[in-house]
Amino acid sequence: MTFRQGPPEAAQKHAAHINPAFIRVLGMLGYGRVFTRAAGHELWDETGARYVDFLAGFGTNCLGHSPAALIEALQAALAEQLPNVLHTGPQSAAAELGAAFAERVPSLPLAMLSLSGGEAVESALKLARAATGRHGLVYAAGGFHGTGFGNLSVMGHARWRRPFAPLLPECHAVPYGDIDALAGVFRKHKIAAFLVEPIQAEAGVAVPPDGYLLAAQTLCKKHGALFILDEVQTGLGRTGKLFAFQHTPGLDPDALVLGKALGAGLLPVSATLTRRELQEAAYGALWKFDLHGSTYAGYALGCRVALAVLRILDEKRLPERAATAGERLRDGLRKKLAGHPLVKEIRGRGLLVGISLGASEARSLLGKVVVGALSKQVFGQWLAVRLLERGFISQPASQEWNVLKLTPPLTIEDAQIDALVGAVGDILGEYRTLPPLVADVSKRFAHQVWTGGAFGVTP
Ligand SMILES: Cc1ncc(COP(=O)(O)O)c(C=O)c1O
Repeated sequence: MTFRQGPPEAAQKHAAHINPAFIRVLGMLGYGRVFTRAAGHELWDETGARYVDFLAGFGTNCLGHSPAALIEALQAALAEQLPNVLHTGPQSAAAELGAAFAERVPSLPLAMLSLSGGEAVESALKLARAATGRHGLVYAAGGFHGTGFGNLSVMGHARWRRPFAPLLPECHAVPYGDIDALAGVFRKHKIAAFLVEPIQAEAGVAVPPDGYLLAAQTLCKKHGALFILDEVQTGLGRTGKLFAFQHTPGLDPDALVLGKALGAGLLPVSATLTRRELQEAAYGALWKFDLHGSTYAGYALGCRVALAVLRILDEKRLPERAATAGERLRDGLRKKLAGHPLVKEIRGRGLLVGISLGASEARSLLGKVVVGALSKQVFGQWLAVRLLERGFISQPASQEWNVLKLTPPLTIEDAQIDALVGAVGDILGEYRTLPPLVADVSKRFAHQVWTGGAFGVTP
């Protein structure tokens, strides 16, 4: 690997000591910037350029960056000199957090605490096996649930799974939204749980057909399996309700998985909420109370931050704000991009929004093939980089690069939404037909691959 034109020190050290390929990819795709400060809805790079954050740590920074109210809560907890990591007595902040969850979801009064979303998914999978005594797990293809062995066993996409195979046995994929396929798996196998996201964020903000989640829950109940909702990305106000399942009357999961926004980007906190009888069945005896956990699970500072997040979401009515702001964002995009030949769909709920790019209108077969291939590989990245150049941070969905995903802080302002809509409109407005877009995309990526982009890092 060579550095051509004196890359910033952070990029150089990152490449040398953390993840060389990541720095190469950033440069090649055109993301070559070092961000040095973040406050509110904005970040600044080392040249002083300012960016509005429509990624927000994949929705983690639900209150924006460095939110004063959270920092106050953290400082207060530090000033109290609480025992932070404690294993020889009740953890008072963890207990408060469990109680705060139970107030909000009374059917799930037990909380298993952890640090990352992936760990919280693992908690749910282990709970299901331990509580039911069965092995089988069903999951919706296309979903994203983390990068541990258990997580990878219940999600699709060969690129993510292949290097780590063999994964857990008895895990069955069904197409997202296909209730007959799910029923088929239940007929054939003994199943401990079905794991699903209410909206598959990383699969390109995939919204299931009406009635799907309720029907899946009914199947789970009929077959004695747990119905597990992964709300790591959709939870905590993102979709316009505190939890996405609350949009559907009658939905009543057996386990609810939370992460990301629970620590609001300040400290890592995740949780798996469940029913009393399931927790009892899995861990409710002297010989098994400690079979699941980790050293930092339930640490006081993280729990205090999570408690403050829950309180602020309520006090500022941020789920409601996400609903109206999300509508403004989707409506704005739909109006701006109506009839655009390369925009298939604007979709999502609340402030979880996807712009699906592709050959909606390409007339020739060649056009369809070229746009199909390009949109799968680079369109989303291309649009994200063009937006970055206009001062907006965003990313395509990690499993569907043809969908640009927008997950700004729930506190994002109307003017910032309108500015983003304007920028997307301007950028896509330059390309009413295919050839100039294909030429631009190809030229940019060829140049960036050759030069290493702004980081100047070449393989
Ligand atoms: C729905 C969902 N579940 C689980 C995870 C894994 O969370 P983490 O990266 O904190 O392990 C993610 C991360 O993007 C996610 O979107």
